[in-house]
Amino acid sequence: MQLVSTVAELRRRLAAETAVAFVPTMGNLHEGHLDLVRIAREKGRCVVVSIFVNPLQFGANEDFGRYPRTLQADCEKLEGLADVVFAPDERELYPQPQQVTVIPPLEDDLCGAFRPGHFRGVATVVTKLLEIVRPQFAVFGKKDYQQLFVIRQVVAQLNMPVEIVGGETARAADGLALSSRNQYLSADERTKAVALRQTLVAMREVMLGDATDYDELAREAAENLTAQGWRVDYVAVRAQSDLLPPRAGERELVILAAAWLGQTRLIDNLEVCI
Ligand code: PAJ
Repeated sequence: MQLVSTVAELRRRLAAETAVAFVPTMGNLHEGHLDLVRIAREKGRCVVVSIFVNPLQFGANEDFGRYPRTLQADCEKLEGLADVVFAPDERELYPQPQQVTVIPPLEDDLCGAFRPGHFRGVATVVTKLLEIVRPQFAVFGKKDYQQLFVIRQVVAQLNMPVEIVGGETARAADGLALSSRNQYLSADERTKAVALRQTLVAMREVMLGDATDYDELAREAAENLTAQGWRVDYVAVRAQSDLLPPRAGERELVILAAAWLGQTRLIDNLEVCI
């Protein structure tokens, strides 16, 4: 496995590759990331993983400063799984203040409503990375459902020659979605955190019954979480196809939620086909 930190060196390394599969990350890798790398391994002959904590996608009061940076441990985990690790520093990816920005659909909805500018930052850095790596396949997790949707839209609308592959969410034994941010949780918060997933699973049960008022269902779920000490950003039921509120008769749905336990913001989602 080769560690590369400049765009020029990466381009030289990949020039002759014809089947590159790419997994963009912010590092601090866990099994969820590694699952995506394994998918990439099945898709391509050369597997590239990027590790870059992208300042553009963090709000002023968010955790950019304290986001865990663990390059050496990450490289050890990728040994034998990836062919190339691309870990540029900030000056390499943003030699000047980035003025060309990709503004994706739904940037002010769901997570975007609570994280202004976040999805522009994601769409912009992913567009840059895809242009640098020029992979045939790029793998993203369903854990960040809105992000996956946004990237699919950007790639389609900019006619980028890459196939976007979605990977299932890896979870801890109790069901909590793996996330680099889980380590911010205190022991007590970690115990409580499973309630987010449990809330979505309980909502799915009701939806698979005869419930049709999804707004009411989402409101009740949010109230429940609040009563258990969470600060809820949103709980919403949307259509899988466009992440808009479901139209009458819509059957392929997804429940999405974001909520805070103390200083830690957690997200999760669950697809429901009725
Ligand atoms: P990061 O949070 O490091 O996640 C990198 C990739 O891993 C994303 O596609 C994310 O959806 C996926 N992932 C995270 N947790 C997962 C889990 N428990 N199971 C499966 N996949 C999981 O998402 C980002 O970085 C950034 O926004 C990025 C796309 C790299 C742009 O900066």
